[in-house]
Amino acid sequence: MGCGTGYLTRILSPVVTRTGHVTGLDPSPAMIGHARGRAPANCSYVVGAGQRLPFPDGSFDLVVSSLAVHHMPREARPEALRQMFRVLRPGGRLLIAEFRPPDGRLTRRLAGLLSGPAMRHDPRDLLGTMIPDAGFQVEAEGRLPNLLYHVRATRP
Ligand SMILES: C[S@@+](CC[C@H](N)C(=O)[O-])C[C@H]1O[C@@H](n2cnc3c(N)ncnc32)[C@H](O)[C@@H]1O
Repeated sequence: MGCGTGYLTRILSPVVTRTGHVTGLDPSPAMIGHARGRAPANCSYVVGAGQRLPFPDGSFDLVVSSLAVHHMPREARPEALRQMFRVLRPGGRLLIAEFRPPDGRLTRRLAGLLSGPAMRHDPRDLLGTMIPDAGFQVEAEGRLPNLLYHVRATRP
């Protein structure tokens, strides 16, 4: 969800094995065009928005959204989480990664000035209770290296 240039989908391509399939979605036709131009055989790409996922119910084992939620209009985010829940099969898994600002006050301020809004939010405030509210069971969350934060959840 929000695959951009498809960087992460290309990393996931060998992970899902040769019989698995990765679908990237992004509202930007330019991003999708770029991703399609470099697509491994088991990856395909769709122009669309997270809050209106054009996929049938229960059609994915895993939904991944990396650095995309903060790009979405605030009011669209809860619906995007509900859509991610809808398209996952029962037992399917969700992984969301977002930026987290640096710890120090000065570096946090500098990062906010240099990188714009993406580094100004605390990922826990950004995501709030949207993930459990959409029906997910949160399994793990926490910091990752390189200023990232993740939440891993399951559709019961
Ligand atoms: C920083 S890029 C992340 C790209 C990729 N996920 C990665 O980690 O390399 C954010 C992407 O979110 C997309 N985006 C913006 N609004 C969106 C929406 N409503 N639904 C899904 N994706 C959206 C943007 O077009 C952009 O490609």
